Amino acid sequence: MRKIFLHFILLVLGISTSVMAAEQNARIKIDTDRVIGKIDKNIYGNFTEHLGRCIYGGIYDPDSKLSNEMGFRKDVLEAARGLNISLLRWPGGNFVSGYHWEDGIGPRELRPERTDLAWQTPEPNTFGTDEFIAFCRALSTEPYIAVNMGTGTLDEARNWVEYCNVKEGPYYAELRKKNGNAEPYNVKYWSLGNEVDGFWQMGHKNAEDYGKYALEAAKLMKWTSPEIKLIAAGSSNFYYGSDPHSWNRIVLDYLKDYIDYIALHRYIRNDADNYYEFLASTIDVEERTKIVEGQIKEAVSKQRDGRTGEPRPRQIYIAWDEYNVWYRARGGAASRGRNALEEKYNLEDALVVAGFLNVFIRNAHIVKMANMAQLVNVIAPIFTSKTDMYRQTIYYPLALFANNSFGTSLDVFVDSPTYDTERWKKVPYLDVSVAYNNDEVVINAVNRHLTDRIKTDIISQQGEFSGNFSVYEVNGPDIKTENTFGSEPVKTINKPVIEVSGNRFTYEFPPHSYVMIKGKLK
Ligand code: AHR
Repeated sequence: MRKIFLHFILLVLGISTSVMAAEQNARIKIDTDRVIGKIDKNIYGNFTEHLGRCIYGGIYDPDSKLSNEMGFRKDVLEAARGLNISLLRWPGGNFVSGYHWEDGIGPRELRPERTDLAWQTPEPNTFGTDEFIAFCRALSTEPYIAVNMGTGTLDEARNWVEYCNVKEGPYYAELRKKNGNAEPYNVKYWSLGNEVDGFWQMGHKNAEDYGKYALEAAKLMKWTSPEIKLIAAGSSNFYYGSDPHSWNRIVLDYLKDYIDYIALHRYIRNDADNYYEFLASTIDVEERTKIVEGQIKEAVSKQRDGRTGEPRPRQIYIAWDEYNVWYRARGGAASRGRNALEEKYNLEDALVVAGFLNVFIRNAHIVKMANMAQLVNVIAPIFTSKTDMYRQTIYYPLALFANNSFGTSLDVFVDSPTYDTERWKKVPYLDVSVAYNNDEVVINAVNRHLTDRIKTDIISQQGEFSGNFSVYEVNGPDIKTENTFGSEPVKTINKPVIEVSGNRFTYEFPPHSYVMIKGKLK
């Protein structure tokens, strides 16, 4: 009531509501009982594709002095370790829809060179399944393989699973052993193709054709290795005509008894160079998440035991299988050859990446996997030259989230000043997610405001904050600031710790920043 009265007085005096909002403190109210779900570590996944300099010249460069005995760039490995990558998707992307995995195993001198039509690049096949597994081990990360549902056969899909996961014979398991790997790799995560909904995909199909084909592949792959988890290709970037939702519904309906995840892809663009619209666009990621969650609910309600017809509900989750900002290095020459997709990121892109991660945490009950696309050089947080490496701006928010935001996600109340864009109304300047783990609370806040600090009361509804709280800030001189070799003006700054006690404290979030605050709450 007081607020409405004050609003009225200010209006009478001709003072705009945004000024009023700026005079009030924003509020973040945290209640540890309001649990959304467990945060799955697999939301900190990543992706490596045979594309541009991601594999060759990125993670794998046997001729480089910077590489180890396996040909892996040591500087890249070290930077990648900083991202605490939970799982790594490979070999594509669009590339996989023309990839025949047997080209990439066995003695290197016998492996054929091919032409990859997705990115119009020669593929030497010197990096294949065994090298990928070795790289995952060097990184202590879980491998995740996508099979070819474009030009590939059902046999190729199930044989690949046998090569990786079956201990003894008769053929592909033996082949793995012959290639020097006695023990199975136990690859747990397998996706049934990539962006099959897209006209740009080799072997593009309509939803019915994909559903039928992927179902047969799923059966054979599961019969070969029952423990595997399967990810279906959901809609990518709204390209399935104008109705991505019907693609997802049909695919879920065909595959509901076999899959564990449905994959969604999203690349956010800023072609119009509209900062506020760009920063708000993760709202769309959240809306798609909720729409697909509803579609999953429908599919799960229809799951039946094949023999008895009895309901047999098995949860299906969302994998945000490819996500990032990507709009500059797109189309034409920028999408082909050895330097394809070398997007250079700035501060505003890093804030959008933090926004993606906030969405994944706020939807932790249903989003159980997410993979930044991609790891090195290609729309990537790590960028190399033959002799050097640097961390792009988007590296820093991902590293902060992936090293700190675990446990349960909390449904927090946020009262923040808002703004309108052409597409979105009442966009809160403060975009917030909160993780709670073993009496430790982690507050992730993006201040989307371009010029203003937002003074915020952070209130605990039960339990007390105590001790020194660490504060980390990703920011830079200007939203257009980029990093480059030898100069990383956009990075994480460790701010002075703040001493907190009781059930509230106040923090001022600086303009165009992502801030993480972490400390005890019990
Ligand atoms: O990550 C780059 C490309 O984007 C992938 O190959 C494809 O899946 C998506 O269109």
